[in-house]
Amino acid sequence: MNENLNDAQKREKIDPNEDNKPLPWFITMTIGALFMWSATYIKETVMTAAPEAGDSRSEQVAVACAGGGLAKVAIDGGAIFQAKCVACHQATGEGIAGVFPPLAGSEWVKGKPEVLASILLHGINGKIHVKGTEYNGQMPVFKDLLKDDEIAAVLTHIRSTWGNNAPAVDEKLVASIRESTKARATSYDGDDELSKLEAK
Ligand code: HEC
Repeated sequence: MNENLNDAQKREKIDPNEDNKPLPWFITMTIGALFMWSATYIKETVMTAAPEAGDSRSEQVAVACAGGGLAKVAIDGGAIFQAKCVACHQATGEGIAGVFPPLAGSEWVKGKPEVLASILLHGINGKIHVKGTEYNGQMPVFKDLLKDDEIAAVLTHIRSTWGNNAPAVDEKLVASIRESTKARATSYDGDDELSKLEAK
């Protein structure tokens, strides 16, 4: 020790120093997980409508386009499916065995668009066979929840997803079915009523 130091200086301890500690593993893991989540989120997000439309993206909205005019944003049938149908019919379109019938490969989905539009507008209550299996639940009524163009979009979506490849459904067809069935206050009685319509 240096002889020239006074007593007070001699009592001084060496400054503590922190060792080179690596970032705790759980922080590294959390950052990694967040990074992967955000990358996946960006990759998986389907942006079919202009972001300017905000919350009404899936609806029919008019947004100013680059030219200063107004452009009609296409309605995203897939987004409507996610919002209104996925809980029961599932993202795979396979439904839930014995409870919610499949839309993938369903003869009703691929069948007459008039019947399909009727199903969406008024719902089904009663036994219905889908791909050889009997279901006896309640398909909700959508006539007050979705507009013609939204029904057309979601039907077009389910007819062209999960291997289904039936033609698109036009908004005018939905409007005409809405009009011709407007007196109806009950849901369709499953197969009994719907297969007659399908056979017409
Ligand atoms: C609350 C659950 C529920 C929701 C939400 C729902 N469905 Fe259904 N859906 C059913 C049930 C249950 C049946 C079968 C009805 C029966 O058993 O009488 C059915 C039947 C159908 C059928 C005819 C049978 C088939 O599998 O092809 C179609 C088409 C259909 N739904 C489309 C839709 C579409 C499109 C939406 C969203 C706009 C939707 N459903 C939302 C429960 C639901």
